[in-house]
This record gives sequence, structure tokens and C-alpha cells, in this order.
Amino acid sequence: MKTRAIRLYGANDLRLEEFELPPIASDEILAKVVTNSICMSDHKAAEQGASHKRVPNDIDKNPIMLGHEFCGEIVEVGEQWKSKFKVGSRFSIQPALNYQGTLDAPGYSFRYIGGDATYVVIPHQVMDLDCLLPYEGDAFFLGSLAEPVSCVVGTFHAMYHTTNGSYVHDMGIVEGGNLAILAGVGPMGLSAIDYALHNTGRKPGRLVVTDIDDARLARAQSLYSLEDAKANGVELIYLNTKGLADPVKTMMELTDNHGYDDVLVMAPVRALVEQADAILAKDGCLNFFAGPNKTDFSATMNFYNVHYGSTHIVGTSGGNTDDMRESLALMEKGLINPAAMVTHIGGLSAVPEAVINLPSIPGGKKMMYTHLDFPLTALDDLAELGKDNPVFAELAVLVEKHNGLWNAEAEKYLMEHCTKRVKE
Ligand SMILES: NC(=O)c1ccc[n+]([C@@H]2O[C@H](COP(=O)([O-])OP(=O)(O)OC[C@H]3O[C@@H](n4cnc5c(N)ncnc54)[C@H](O)[C@@H]3O)[C@@H](O)[C@H]2O)c1
Repeated sequence: MKTRAIRLYGANDLRLEEFELPPIASDEILAKVVTNSICMSDHKAAEQGASHKRVPNDIDKNPIMLGHEFCGEIVEVGEQWKSKFKVGSRFSIQPALNYQGTLDAPGYSFRYIGGDATYVVIPHQVMDLDCLLPYEGDAFFLGSLAEPVSCVVGTFHAMYHTTNGSYVHDMGIVEGGNLAILAGVGPMGLSAIDYALHNTGRKPGRLVVTDIDDARLARAQSLYSLEDAKANGVELIYLNTKGLADPVKTMMELTDNHGYDDVLVMAPVRALVEQADAILAKDGCLNFFAGPNKTDFSATMNFYNVHYGSTHIVGTSGGNTDDMRESLALMEKGLINPAAMVTHIGGLSAVPEAVINLPSIPGGKKMMYTHLDFPLTALDDLAELGKDNPVFAELAVLVEKHNGLWNAEAEKYLMEHCTKRVKE
């Protein structure tokens, strides 16, 4: 089976290539990818090339296939898995495999599996670890988004708190407590807000979301309004910290100087980590969610507070399979809607440029349709582009109909009517 895929050969050396996939072994599965969303972590993997933790050293000779947020359909099932998986079923993948203690993951470490491709061979490790998940939803793009949402779900579950005199870690955020999401209106921050407000477990009493980007803050507020938060029992506050003389003081005042029980840091910025440390309440838990691209990334932490205030840190990278199942269930019940993360759509050949330039492209998630071929297109530009392109004109109508969000109806229309297709 031929595939067309984006392969990483070295730092920022991404190539769209067509090549033959090996025939599947009895413990492997051949699959068609339909959507893959681009993650800031793809940008970091591309930027670092072989020096990235998850990327093998010999990619110059054995390039890996990029992309780990993907959804598609099963095409051929190896003998060993025939009782469990069926041809034609839709799937989503939990890529943080943790296979025998390695960091190997689809989209970073393998030659024949990565989401920016038309077809992939799913290696046995994915099935062995139960990381190939059936996806029953009607929109492929939501299946792709289950992966980034699972990272957020995992983050909330990894937070922990303690009780004086006990050595037991109580997992999860403080119910009814103060939660701060710093740098919180990028796509991952939006997902964290959605989960904090709408999950069926613990919710904060107060949620303070900071950022330095006014446009992103305004969009976040239009998606997750103060009223909606209130209806879910949460006092929600958006705060632009840019230009504040003393952001820590302002954030502390918002909690009557109690501080924050839980703090998520969504950008790898030293000053932000130090800000997070400074606003922790007694027994406060800081999650350094953002992945740094420098191996010597460090920040100062107040160890007086570690000792006397029981403040502590966790860091999560990816979610686990239960987190992925929880994401899928919350989506299927309509409790969370990760569609808000998507601001752009595109075809396969638009991937390399989008990945390399990701930090400078405004907006949120870029959802790539790997069998289609059209430039990266902002949802906001569809109406204008639609003046010369009837497909975009109809997509603009469908996006408008769904409150400005990418949606299953628009996806179906795009897949049926986009005439520029990747050669099969
Ligand atoms: N832990 C995981 O499992 C996991 C999974 C996916 C992504 N990530 C990482 O999470 C981070 C967030 O992802 P994203 O796609 O939302 O990234 P993003 O870069 O789009 O968003 C980060 C936000 O940080 C804001 N920001 C930057 N510097 C700031 C500062 N000094 N003060 C306040 N705000 C500031 C930006 O305005 C932006 O809105 C990235 O580092 C990404 O690599 C982690």
C-alpha cells in the first residue's frame, strides 16, 4: 500500500513523500488516516529533530512520520487482532504509549505511523497497550481532538493534595478551590477551561485564566462565558497580565490573598513558572503542562513554601488511555466541545509550513485533512475566500450556522466537495 506522509529527516527538515508501506505483520493493522490536528509539540519535535526526547537519532536515514492527533478508519487487520478490530471501524489513538519504559510514540518515533499521512501501519505496541480506541463519533476531527483533550484530562487527574499528618496523596484538583490557568487561552488552555467547567468530577469554585493576548482572551470569553461558568458553579475571571505592574499581587487579590490550590502553566516561560509558584496557596499544586524546548529550562521555586506550605509541582506530558476514554465519553455526551480549539483547516501539503511556522500563525488548532490538498485556511477567512470558491462559500455558511465553530456538517461537506485530493 502506498502512502503519502510528512516525514521528519532532521531539524526543521520536513518532507512530503510518497512511499510504499511494508505489508502488515500478523500483529499489525493497516489504517487510513482522515484527520490530524497539529500540536505545538509537533513544532517542537520538528525544531529539535533528532535531539528531541521522543525522536530517534537516525532520522536522517530512517525518517519518522509526524503527527499524533489522528483519526481514521481501519483498512486491514493482522491475524492476531481479527477478533478485536474490524475493517471499516473508526479509530482514535492514544499516542503516549509508555511502552516498556520508553518515550516512543506514534508521530515522533516510528517510520510507518504518524497522523500526517494518508495510510499508516499501526505497530503491535499500540494494540498491546490497548491504545487503539474505537471511535463512534460522526466527525473525524473530534476523534483527532480526543488526544489533546486527553492531555488536559490527565493533567487534572495528576494534580494532588495532602492532609496534615497523612502521607496519602489525594488525586485531582481541590473541589470548590481556586484554580489558575496561566497562559490559558491557547488551544490547550481553552480545552482546560472547558474541562474545568464541564467535567463530571471535581470543579473549582473560582477559575482565573490569564494570558497576554487580547484577541485570544476575547475569543475565550465568547466561548466560555462568565454566565456559563456561573451556571456550572464556577466564578470565572479572565485577566490580561500584560502591562500589570504586579501580576502576582493582582492574582492574589482575586482570591482574597488565599492563593491558588491548583495552577496550570500553559507556556514554557520562566517568569510564568515563577509567577505560578508565587501564587500557590498552602498545599498548592503547580502543573507545568507546557513542554519546554530547552533541556536546561529552569526556574526559581520558593523552597521555604515547599517546606512550610507543602507547595508542590507535577508535570504531565500526554494523557493515558483512561484519559482518552474519558475525553471521548465527555464529547459523545456533548458535555465538552473541543471544536472551539479549531481555527484553521488545511490539506496534507500545507502541513510542513504550518508546523514550522506554528508559533507565528495566530489562532488555535490547525485541523488537517490528509487526503485533501488545499492551503492552510482560517475559518474566519472562509467567507472572503468564498467569493471565488463555492466550496469555501458553503463552508462559511456551515461554520456560521454552528456559532463560528468547525463542525461535523462542515467536515462532511468539505470531504465530499473538495476537488483537490491527494493522489491515492
Ligand atoms: N502536557 C501535555 O500533554 C501537552 C499536550 C499538548 C501541548 N502541550 C504544550 O502546552 C502548551 C500550550 O499549548 P497551546 O497549543 O495552547 O500553545 P500556544 O502557544 O498556542 O498558547 C500558549 C498561550 O500562552 C500565552 N503566553 C505566552 N507567554 C505568556 C506569558 N508570559 N504570560 C501569559 N501568557 C503567555 C500566549 O499568548 C498563548 O495564548 C505548549 O507548550 C504545548 O507544547 C502540552
